[in-house]
Amino acid sequence: MLKVKNLNVGYGNVPVLFDLSLEVKQGELVSVVGSNGAGKSTLIRAISGILKPYSGEIEFMGERIDNVPAYKVVEKGIAHVPEGRQVFGKLSVKDNLLLGAYTIRDEKIINARLNEMYELFPRLKEREHQKAETLSGGEQQMLAIARGLMSNPKLLMVDEVSLGLAPVIVERVLEVLKVISKDVTVLMVEQNVQEALEIADRAYVIQNGRIVMEGPGEELLESDMIKKAYLGL
Ligand SMILES: Nc1ncnc2c1ncn2[C@@H]1O[C@H](COP(=O)(O)OP(=O)(O)OP(=O)(O)O)[C@@H](O)[C@H]1O
Ligand SMILES: [Mg+2]
Repeated sequence: MLKVKNLNVGYGNVPVLFDLSLEVKQGELVSVVGSNGAGKSTLIRAISGILKPYSGEIEFMGERIDNVPAYKVVEKGIAHVPEGRQVFGKLSVKDNLLLGAYTIRDEKIINARLNEMYELFPRLKEREHQKAETLSGGEQQMLAIARGLMSNPKLLMVDEVSLGLAPVIVERVLEVLKVISKDVTVLMVEQNVQEALEIADRAYVIQNGRIVMEGPGEELLESDMIKKAYLGL
């Protein structure tokens, strides 16, 4: 579904990702794990079309998207849940969700989508008219995910969903992602290596802008390198 080949990207003339290649197949939940500053958000921004690569290829559903502007990437079926949630605090839960559906013109489809989100996240339904800034951190993260899903994406990319959440909330949010991944392919990037590997079908480890390891999540959890470098074991 998604193929990234020899991607080089950075900010101005400061390179961040080096010859990075990865692949996400339809129906998979793929995690990219790495420490602060490894380049995880940069990777997601490049796929989203927010950052233009220096070189390399990004292919989605058989089509090159590395020169496609961000708004068109959304239309092609890739949603991006950014780091730090970034919900619109002064807007209601419902209005935040509706913003996620800006690529859809048909009001019937939008309403159907809204109801699907409320089924998936009953808490959001209860708080439909509440300002987003009054939600708890976990609820805001659910809202950010639901907003991403409003566009009915084929691929949902989630940046650091666990950041700032209590462990039990992290588990709940990740469980939701696992459920979602039965219908929507998911690419998530995470610093929370343990949890991200546990739920991933496959995962990549990124260090200083390079992929250093890849494999099934469970396999990586067993590797000495991961245990030493990321799990403090
Ligand atoms: N807007 C920017 N301008 C210049 N450099 C940036 C910018 N955003 C990120 N960088 C640099 O790119 C590198 C990778 O950053 P990135 O945000 O991709 O890391 P990350 O893996 O997402 O880290 P974290 O886990 O802390 O979110 C860092 O060295 C960072 O300083
Ligand atoms: Mg980041």
